[in-house]
This record gives sequence, structure tokens and C-alpha cells, in this order.
Amino acid sequence: MNLFAKKNLKQLLADATDENIAEHAHQGHGHGGGLARHLSAFQLTMLGIGAIIGAGIFSLTGAAAANYAGPGIVFSFVIGGVLCAFAGLCYAEMASMIPVAGSAYAYSYATMGELIAWIIGWDLVLEYAFGSVTVAAAWSGYVYSLLHKTLGIDFPDVVVRLTKGPWEDVILANGAKVSGLWNVPATLVSLVVSSVLYRGIKESASLNNLIVVVKVAIVLAFIGLGIGVVSTENLFVNHGASGLAQLVPEPAMVGEQMRYGWLNGGVLTGAGVVFFAYIGFDAVSTTAQEAKNPRRDLPIGILGSLVICTVLYILVALVLTGVVPYKELGVPDPIAVGIDRIVELRGWAPNVKKLFTFVVKIGAISGLTSVILVMMMGQTRVFYAMAKDGLLPWFDATHPTYKTPHIATVLTGVFVAVCGGCMPMSLVGELVSIGTLLAFVLVCLGVPILRRTSPDLERPFRVPGALFVGLAGAGACLWVMTGLPHDTWLRLIVWLVIGFVVYFGYGRHHSKLQQASK
Ligand code: ALA
Repeated sequence: MNLFAKKNLKQLLADATDENIAEHAHQGHGHGGGLARHLSAFQLTMLGIGAIIGAGIFSLTGAAAANYAGPGIVFSFVIGGVLCAFAGLCYAEMASMIPVAGSAYAYSYATMGELIAWIIGWDLVLEYAFGSVTVAAAWSGYVYSLLHKTLGIDFPDVVVRLTKGPWEDVILANGAKVSGLWNVPATLVSLVVSSVLYRGIKESASLNNLIVVVKVAIVLAFIGLGIGVVSTENLFVNHGASGLAQLVPEPAMVGEQMRYGWLNGGVLTGAGVVFFAYIGFDAVSTTAQEAKNPRRDLPIGILGSLVICTVLYILVALVLTGVVPYKELGVPDPIAVGIDRIVELRGWAPNVKKLFTFVVKIGAISGLTSVILVMMMGQTRVFYAMAKDGLLPWFDATHPTYKTPHIATVLTGVFVAVCGGCMPMSLVGELVSIGTLLAFVLVCLGVPILRRTSPDLERPFRVPGALFVGLAGAGACLWVMTGLPHDTWLRLIVWLVIGFVVYFGYGRHHSKLQQASK
């Protein structure tokens, strides 16, 4: 048995062709005839934006500015954008060359062999499924805040306790601190979203388009309204420096820790935190078997969504820290705080403030919904690909009418709904980042490897300077990983060990590749 057996690229591509799938269905495997090709370049770009703009920009930006980078958070976003551009370019080359649903999992199967592919497939659960769990919990927080704080609705204690999981604290109306019971809104949103995914890729993409229009309009409105009232006093906080370097506060001891400045504890640490805001563009690559013209359109979707979101993020960061002094931004809803300040600075009536806060929260809630949608979609497609290779059971079935991987969708939906209801968020947030970074490292390394091993393969999109971009991307992602806490590493290792147990208990014996080589 060769644990590092590689999948033949031609075979991999043949597996994904429509003829093959049709034949498969014809043979009566009960697999429903495969996935359906509906997505255009525009829809793929919208899916990317749908997955990217979410909890990162609506929640994490504030704390990252307040704790680490000050207005220099703008540079943290630039660094995050450059890092993701390396990974995005590599994803674009891989996806255009090997347009199959498994994304990073499938690329690794062809470049580094079955065991590494398994590790990456298993690791992608951290990104997509646990990413959905994290964002579902943030969704719940925003919905409660909209109903309670913005609309003034008071709920009985027991309902308040049903908005957080059993390991989270809840503050009741009388000020008492108790534990939550179950995060019901997180469970509900996961189930509703998975039912849309079950229904079809077309329906899912249409819902995503609608949401993306709403959230991008709100982000643009924030930038448009705020840019005119930005104060240089808020932005240029370091008078000792020159030019744009004035945006980065002097390093200083805050409590027991060194904060601010450019390096650790400052802009670089901020980049690690806001990295979460960029996660999601890669989910576009998991729709390869549902794209009408994947070889041309996947790179457009991946890179287009990444570029659009990077520009929006940099502008939002600039406006936010330009209207609110960075030290006041350590709140869970910084964009709502920002819009309040913009209304004050413009001298508008308090009622307008209420209206805008309401609108911003709607933007955040809709944004988070599409992140859950596209992340869960990515998860189901990766499971589908892994099951097609025999490494997992059941998940490769497709619905005969809806042409979706319906079993994978139901199981993913239930998993996210249960974890979203009860998992402690402190456990999962950074796991999502480390899991994603690991996948990025392997995709970045895969590009120069395949350039060597399969130089003649058709590459509709070629990364310029592949060796440099691949190595720089992998190095940069590894570097961000080293900045994450030890606990997060430990959790990653535990997760991978569980994965080994599943692989050696099931996948290894059922792998189609292993069986074919016997
Ligand atoms: N990028 C996604 C978000 O910020 C995961 O919610």
C-alpha cells in the first residue's frame, strides 16, 4: 500500500467530465447524475464576495485596530491582501488547470499523494464547516443586537439564554451573569441555509447575489458617507514618524504586553487577525464542476472577488479609524459605532442615527448569511469529492432532480447546526484561520511542484513568477501560522489525529486509487 500514491491528472480530469458522470448515473449507481453547470463568471465572483465580506470586517476590524495596529490597520489589510493574492493566484492556476470540486484536496491528491490529500480534505473541514459555525454564532449576536439594542425589544431571560451556547456567558436584564443554554439562532440559520443549498446551486447563487448586492451597497454607503468627515487627527497618531508611517502608533506597553508599531503586537499581528476577513475566496474553486466555463471563469471569480474586497476593506479601515479614535474601537460592532460617529459628525438628527445603525446591522446580518451559505457549499463539495474517491462514505450521492450533493448537504447542515448551537466560540475562531492557512500553504507549494512534474499540462491561467509566488505565498502563510497561539496549534494537531483515525479506519481500505493499484 502506497500512502503517497498520486492521482493521475488525466484520470482526475476525466472523473470530473460530464460524460463520465452521466455514464456513472446511467450504470445505475443511484448517484443522481452528478452536479449541474449553471454558474457564470459574474456569479462566481459574487460567490467569492459572498464568502469574503462578513464577520471579519464587521466585527474583528475594531479590536485589531484598538489592540494592535491603530489606524495602521490599513497596512494590516494591505499585508493580508498581498498574502491572499499569492494564495489566490496559486488557487487560480490550480483551479483553471484542475477544475474539480475537491479544490485544494484534489490538487494535493495530484501533487503530493493520498495521505497529504486526506490531511488537506480533513483540514478544509476546519475552514468551511467550522468557518460556518463561527460565522453562525456571530450572526446570532448581530440578530440579537438588532432586535434588542436597536429596536428596543426586551426578551424574557430564558430567551436571552437561548442566544448563546452552554459555554458562553450571558448578561441578563438584572445584570446577573449566567451561562447560555443553546444558540438557537445559530442553529436555525444553519438549517435554513442548508435547505437552500439542498434545493439547488442556481437557487443558492441567486440568493447569494441578492445578499451581496445588499451588503456591498451598505459597505459602499459607509465609505461614501464617512470619507468626507475623516479627521487627520484620528489618523495621524504618530507625529514622530513621517508620511503614511504616522498612521502606526509608537510601540508602547499596554498592561503587560508590548503593542503597536509595525512588528509583533502591532501591524503584523493585526494582519494575522484580519486574515479571517479574507477567508472565503478559495471556496469559489469548489464550484468547479458547477461552473459553465471553469477554466476561464474560476480565475476571474477567485481573483476578481479578492481584488474587490481588498479595495473595500482598505477603504473601510481608513474611514473607520479616521472617524473614530482607534482606542475606542475595541467593540464587537465597530462598523455600527463608526456609522453613529459619522452621523454625529455630519450633525444629523438622532433618528437618522437609529436608521443608519439599523441599516448597518442589516448589512452585517446579510453579509454573514452569505458567508455561511458559500462556506457550507464549499464543505459539501469537498466532501463530495472525497467520497467520490472512496475516502468517505455516502457523501458522493447527488439529488436526481436538484443536482446537488444532497446527503453531504444534510450532514454538513446538521453538523454546523449542532456545533453552532453549543460549541464554545473561543475554541473555533482561530482554528478556522490555521486550517485555512495550512490549505493555502499546500496549494502554494503545489503550483511549482506541478510546473516541474507536469510542465505540458494546459494552464489557461498561469501565475507569473510561479516559483517565487508559490514559495513566497507558502512562506507568508506559514509565518502567519507561527503567530497563532499554541492552543490553536494543539487543536489543529488533535483534529488531524482524529483525521488519521478516520483515514486508517475507513478511507485507506475504501480508496478507489488504492483498490485500482492492487
Ligand atoms: N471572510 C469571512 C468573514 O469575514 C469568513 O466572515
